[in-house]
Amino acid sequence: MDLSGRRIVLGVGGGIAAYKAVEVSRRLVDAGAHVVPVMTTGAKRFVGETTFSALASEPVRSSLFDDPNDPIPHTTIGQGADLIVVAPATARLISAYATGYSHDLLTNVLIATRAPVIVCPAMHTEMWEHPAIQDNMTLLRSRGVHVVNPGEGRLAGGDIGAGRLAEPIDIVAAVFDVLESRGAGRASAETRDLDGLNVVVSAGGTREPIDPVRFVGNRSSGKQGHLIAEQAHSRGASVTLVTTSAIASSPGINRVNVETADEMHRAISAVANTADIVVMSAAVADFTPVRAAENKIKKADGVPSIVLAPTVDILAELGAVKPVGQTLVGFAAETTDAEANALRKLHAKNADLLVLNDVSAPGVGFEHDTNEVTILSADGSRVHIGLTDKRKVADAVLTEARRVHHAGSTATE
Ligand code: CTP
Repeated sequence: MDLSGRRIVLGVGGGIAAYKAVEVSRRLVDAGAHVVPVMTTGAKRFVGETTFSALASEPVRSSLFDDPNDPIPHTTIGQGADLIVVAPATARLISAYATGYSHDLLTNVLIATRAPVIVCPAMHTEMWEHPAIQDNMTLLRSRGVHVVNPGEGRLAGGDIGAGRLAEPIDIVAAVFDVLESRGAGRASAETRDLDGLNVVVSAGGTREPIDPVRFVGNRSSGKQGHLIAEQAHSRGASVTLVTTSAIASSPGINRVNVETADEMHRAISAVANTADIVVMSAAVADFTPVRAAENKIKKADGVPSIVLAPTVDILAELGAVKPVGQTLVGFAAETTDAEANALRKLHAKNADLLVLNDVSAPGVGFEHDTNEVTILSADGSRVHIGLTDKRKVADAVLTEARRVHHAGSTATE
């Protein structure tokens, strides 16, 4: 891949593997990228600033304050970037980034940017496996940060285990991958292929209150729906995201936070009529307690019986009143007779596409970062997407929705 015209910030943390970042920089420059090196104070103890300045495209930056030409480097560096790659990312750097503790130039740049970020951790096995680090990695991943996992091998001090910085060639491959899938830096017709379309996406599992502290819920995390909204936004659509999830969304997305099936129904109904594409990826509760207790139900009062009533099937309702030219996408989480059940839902709810998750398969569906789906279409087509990250699944769903929408609008012209 030719990286000419791409501006890549290379963040270097203070670890023994900092020397490998020199090789990452050289490979990126060789591919045509403009590399802006940002080193932490710790990194400079491991590799000389001059080495980086000589091999990157401009001198090393590391201070928030001492650049006479740039009084606010923490915002300008991140704003101008097509991508930021942090290698090595130390335990401290990862934790600062996850919590927003922006105490130096690199952490400020990470918090101030809207560019995609790739984090390449490197640390001792015990540190890498510590729940504090793993929880922070999960948090970063849930926010859409890309991760090149460390490999196994000899670590500083001679012991062997997981935590060794990924090889420069793999880090550069991840840069290519992310830039290719996001189309960053070049707004070609293909990457802005949803320009002018109004897309409504629902995400997350609804919570149906039993009393002020308890609810009936489900395992949906909202990751897949959020990524559909993010990808639709970066492909040029005007996006409304109705969500129960706490995952952050891009500022350009019109976000409506809801909690219950009833709130989701109202929020979707208010915007669906003018949508070109509606994607119902939310796991909407099928039943809700008839009445939520006003005060916390006390154990001493005995085992309560909770009477449930059906909720509105939002997808079926949208299907029943679907405006001409609108493309309606449903999801189906199945554990048995997956494809037969999904096809039944597709027709019964008058959807145009149905994205089938077999949630009994490993690595698929709820809470995972990966997914494997089959996209079934009312026109009879069937697209299978093998196990991959949810961002790629999001793109595949949008590409199918765009195809069906386009076919529908040319048919009605
Ligand atoms: N759905 C909805 N409103 C509901 C329930 C489901 O809009 N009250 C939507 C979901 O967002 C999804 C599709 O319907 O797009 C299928 O959801 P799923 O739970 O798989 O199917 P159900 O119709 O609820 O059937 P079952 O639970 O019996 O499998």
